[in-house]
Parts: sequence; C-alpha cells; structure tokens
Amino acid sequence: MRSLPSRVGNCAQCLKKIIEKRMIIIKTVSELESYVSRERNNGRSIGLVPTMGALHEGHLSLVERAVRENDDVIVSVFVNPTQFNNPDDLASYPRTEEEDCRQLARAGVAVAFVPEVSEMYPQGAVREKEFRLGTAAEVMEGKFRPGHFQGVAQIVSRLFELCRPNRAYFGEKDFQQIAVIRNMVESEGIDVDIIPCPIKRADDGLALSSRNALLTPAQRVIAPEIHKALKAGVEYSKEHGVGETREYVVGLIDAVEGLQTEYFEIVDARTLLPVEEWSESPEVQGCITVYCGKVRLIDNIKFR
Ligand code: PAF
Repeated sequence: MRSLPSRVGNCAQCLKKIIEKRMIIIKTVSELESYVSRERNNGRSIGLVPTMGALHEGHLSLVERAVRENDDVIVSVFVNPTQFNNPDDLASYPRTEEEDCRQLARAGVAVAFVPEVSEMYPQGAVREKEFRLGTAAEVMEGKFRPGHFQGVAQIVSRLFELCRPNRAYFGEKDFQQIAVIRNMVESEGIDVDIIPCPIKRADDGLALSSRNALLTPAQRVIAPEIHKALKAGVEYSKEHGVGETREYVVGLIDAVEGLQTEYFEIVDARTLLPVEEWSESPEVQGCITVYCGKVRLIDNIKFR
C-alpha cells in the first residue's frame, strides 16, 4: 500500500492539534455552569462521562461513543471521597491527572472538569441527604461497602445538576452501579439518558480497571483467572443449578493462590436481587468481587 503524501500527514497533525487545543480544563463549578449555560442556549447537546481518572481504554471507549453521539462532551475527573468507605482505599486510588487530560484532549473532548474536593464539597465531604436507591443498592457492593452508593448518587446527581447532560455514559464493569444510578435518576426526576457501555478487557480477559495499576506483576498474572472462572461458570451452568454454579465459580477462584472471592452472586439483571433458579428471570447476571492481594477487583458476566 502506498503511503500518504506528507502534506496529508501534516494536515492530519494540524487537525489533531486543533482538536487538542479546543479542549478546555475547567476547575471551578461557576466556570462549568457558565460553559453549560452557553452551550445549552446555543441548542447544543451535551454528553457526560463521569470518571475518577486514571483513565484506560475502557474509559476511552465511553468517551469515543459520547463524542460520536453529542455536540459537546464533558468528562469529569474526580476521585470522590464520599463513595469510599475505606480511607486506605481512597488514599491508594491511582491519580494520573495530567496524562488523563492529555488523553481526553486527543479524544476530542470539549471539557475536562477537574475540580478540587473543596470545590465539589464546600461544606466538607459529608453526605447531606439520603437518596432513594431501591433494593438494588442494598446487595453486593451495597452490603460490602456500606454507604458507597449513597456517595456515588451524591456526586453523580451533582454532576448531572451542573452539566445538565442529554446523555451520561457508564461502563458495565460496574454493572450494579448502573442499576443504582437509574434508580437515583428516577427517584430524583432527572431528565437524562443513561447509556451503558460494554466492558473492555485486556487480551487475557482481565476487565480493564483503574485499580489494575495497583497490581504487582505477579498479581497481574493471576488476575485474569477471575474472568476465566466466570466463563467456565457460564458453561457449567448449562448443566447445573444456580447454587452449584455459584460454588463452582468460587471454588475455581479461591483455588488460585493470591485470589480470594469476597462475593459471587447470580442475580436478576434488572433488580440485582439473587435468583435461586435459572427460570426465575429472563436476564441473569453473575457479579463478583475478588481480592487479589489487597486490590479489590470486580467483574461480571451474562448467564442468561
Ligand atoms: O464509576 C466510577 O468511576 C465512579 O463511581 C463515578 C461514577 C465516576 C462516580 O464517582
């Protein structure tokens, strides 16, 4: 194949520079509100991708979709303290703000919203109200990380209020989070389309996650066993009941030295409540959390 004339290559570079230059980094709520008012008054649609930074290909797939489907895309990069129930987890959460902004600029994002904690929580990072999140918030992550979803609802509802997005994009790795956010949107009467986006995986099957950066090389080698066990579970479930399948998957994972299952639930994909029979729901999902050393990894798979 002939290579492109250099003039075309240069033009492509210019275009990339223009796109990169267009992205603005906003750090304050008042600047964000002015930006959103201007864009909304001009009739432009807004896509929001809320993140906690340490961006990877999974985030970027959400961003790409948002860029395709909206006039303007705002990506928030904010490690939200109110959703961490464990201070060590918050302290060790990876932060790569500069590199995140570089990636977002290259992806054609209009605004990276990168506030300080004091900007988002001028009264201090405390919960101010109790959101109605339904029973979906009480199981699995809700049970093992008390208060986590209240913190997620608090920050996501605030971002919705500030960005007034037409659409908001969330990765299906956090399968339960999407159900809980849908409940929050309904109970708060917020007018936004929640767009779930498929999990992105490394070639060896490990679900991409910001927390993967915390794995040691040896842990990184065993972490893909989680997805392997889930896939084996789906095969096993064709001949076995729900309870047996649950035990089988947990058995496979816990047999790997260095992995420890925290929970594995087989649930109705809409209510997130556990099922005991495959026939109980037309859509059944397996959701898992596994400790790989001290790193807490989550994943899920469709069973039915
Ligand atoms: O999924 C996440 O990264 C976070 O829970 C979110 C939605 C950005 C809220 O802080």
